[in-house]
Amino acid sequence: MKMHELVLILTVIFAATLFSSCCLALTEDGMTLLEIKSSLNDSRNLLGNWQATDESPCKWTGISCHTHDQRVRSINLPYMQLGGIISPSIGRLDKLQRLALHQNSLHGSIPNEITNCTELRALYLRANYLQGGIPANIGNLLFLTILDLSSNSLKGAIPSSLGRLTHLHYLNLSTNFFSGEIPDFGALSAFGNKSFIGNLDLCGQQVHKPCRTSMGFPAVLPHASSDEVAVPTKRSSHYMKGVLIGAMSTMGLALVVLLAFLWICLLSKKERAVKRYTEVRKQVDQETSTKLITFHGDMPYPSCEIIEKLEALDEEDVVGSGGFGTVYRMVMNDCGTFAVKRIDRSREGSDQVFERELEILGSIKHINLVNLRGYCRLPATKLLIYDYLSMGSLDDFLHEHGEGQQLLNWSARLKIALGSARGLAYLHHDCCPKIIHRDIKSSNILLDENLEPHVSDFGLAKLLVDEEAHVTTVVAGTFGYLAPEYLQSGRATEKSDVYSFGVLLLELVTGKRPTDPTFVKRGLNVVGWMNTLLKENRLEDVIDKRCADADMETVEAILEIAARCTDANPDDRPSMNQVLQLLEQEVMSPCPSDFYESHSDYC
Ligand SMILES: Nc1ncnc2c1ncn2[C@@H]1O[C@H](COP(=O)(O)OP(=O)(O)O)[C@@H](O)[C@H]1O
Ligand SMILES: *[C@@H]1O[C@H](CO)[C@@H](O)[C@H](O)[C@H]1NC(C)=O
Ligand SMILES: *[C@@H]1O[C@H](CO)[C@@H](O)[C@H](O)[C@H]1NC(C)=O
Ligand SMILES: *[C@@H]1O[C@H](CO)[C@@H](O)[C@H](O)[C@H]1NC(C)=O
Ligand SMILES: *[C@@H]1O[C@H](CO)[C@@H](O)[C@H](O)[C@H]1NC(C)=O
Ligand SMILES: [Mg+2]
Repeated sequence: MKMHELVLILTVIFAATLFSSCCLALTEDGMTLLEIKSSLNDSRNLLGNWQATDESPCKWTGISCHTHDQRVRSINLPYMQLGGIISPSIGRLDKLQRLALHQNSLHGSIPNEITNCTELRALYLRANYLQGGIPANIGNLLFLTILDLSSNSLKGAIPSSLGRLTHLHYLNLSTNFFSGEIPDFGALSAFGNKSFIGNLDLCGQQVHKPCRTSMGFPAVLPHASSDEVAVPTKRSSHYMKGVLIGAMSTMGLALVVLLAFLWICLLSKKERAVKRYTEVRKQVDQETSTKLITFHGDMPYPSCEIIEKLEALDEEDVVGSGGFGTVYRMVMNDCGTFAVKRIDRSREGSDQVFERELEILGSIKHINLVNLRGYCRLPATKLLIYDYLSMGSLDDFLHEHGEGQQLLNWSARLKIALGSARGLAYLHHDCCPKIIHRDIKSSNILLDENLEPHVSDFGLAKLLVDEEAHVTTVVAGTFGYLAPEYLQSGRATEKSDVYSFGVLLLELVTGKRPTDPTFVKRGLNVVGWMNTLLKENRLEDVIDKRCADADMETVEAILEIAARCTDANPDDRPSMNQVLQLLEQEVMSPCPSDFYESHSDYC
């Protein structure tokens, strides 16, 4: 197809999308979010995709919705360098369960209207410049489980209505200017001094400091009502804003077409790059029908040495075996080490097609993927040569408590979640043709000496298993990871990978295999089990006891991401890129400049 034809088609498509979206109104929640945005100072335009022309806000940065009614369920915008104030409009999002605005530069007060969000479970406002008091009616938020207001400039007394919050598991009011007596009532009596450190002048049993009394009264009277006046919001009519944004997006159209141009250029460049990389070295010995293919300089050894080593592999070198065959460790004369997978089963089909597909897999390079370095056909077997990952699989780490093996603490697990997501997102979004993994599970996440994860065996299932036969020939270990629609139809999609990734996240949190008897006994899989526990607010029962360093905040965030990934409806699951973005928002160190770095491209 010629370039100008392509551009014409693209223009028509964009015009059509613009036309259709302009005539469907944004939901109420969407309008409310735009009001909230208008009082934030988003100087880096990280909320650029919050557009009045959209029909629903559910795909906007930081937003997730309830699936049944598309109401906003959570706002996740930590570490976004947002300035400005929290608009009182927040009170209209009455289905909001999670508000995470920590590590920004928000000022003004916490709006009293927030107590209208009666379904709120987690409120993170840590590390901002918020002033004023805690809204006196905070006790209305009956489901509140996590309240983190630490490191702000909040002052006044701690309202006793906090004591009514029977679900409250985590409270942090540290490093503010609170004063007076901490009410010793209900839920409030349970928190120790770690929840209150670094305040101006708090007293009470929680901080082991009796309140000085004169004639039986506390020296500082608790003064529960918030004494700060809410900072007034600029109220430009949002009709005007709609028109403005509409006009801007029309101008944006020209830009989009231009970008499409650039994108096409980039794409063709990328294809060329792939061609360059897939140059392979082929060595064929007609007599013995031995064939060795190595990919783009990945095996800097003479072919005879490689073949000799491959032929010499035996039982002593076995490192494991799985659904497709046995894995061996191969050590070269210079001590370079590789993993060799002997394929026990394979699909009928021409060798040429098989080799062509292997070449594509061999061309994929990413720091979080296990590199396929070569392929060898010996008279009796087919062998795949991979990087050797010395620390073995995540499965071994989590479930084989052998020989005083190093335990994976929570921060190591977060690193594994993030790296695996990067590898998978790369396969889905940056490879051409895109690769569906089909077999995401903990035994396919391999770890190097730094416990950095590398996703292995991508695309292998497609290569080795017949489409029709697939579901019935599923390897036992894979079972708990498969998305319901994949089990039914046998058709793998990116979204079925996303489901498996969600199960992997649950495995990291719980430390249990998805087929653990705990779940099966209750007639549930790990996903159903998690959902019941979350409904009962029993977060602490979910977490692997070995993660002493786990903090509620990230656990809860990871569980929410896992819940979205394992949504029964594939269309409601996020894409891997979105998953990656969510993980980065939650997990990254407070060093925002790292976050938006484009992921280095090796393809
Ligand atoms: N590249 C590799 N480096 C180190 N160990 C590996 C490598 N590939 C596989 N293994 C080990 O061999 C085992 C079997 O792998 P595999 O045949 O892919 O089956 P599965 O992934 O179903 O466990 C893995 O669980 C892992 O411990
Ligand atoms: C928004 O923030 C930027 C820097 O963060 C600042 O220069 C600018 O003045 C702020 N704008 C408003 C309206 O507060
Ligand atoms: C509080 O929520 C109700 C719906 O439950 C809504 O009608 C009302 O406008 C909200 N109040 C504020 C101040 O946002
Ligand atoms: C906090 O309480 C613990 C006992 O619960 C005590 O050992 C510690 O010294 C206290 N810390 C401060 C800063 O008061
Ligand atoms: C509360 O936050 C402060 C500082 O942000 C931290 O030092 C403290 O450990 C936290 N308290 C709890 C209970 O996590
Ligand atoms: Mg494997």
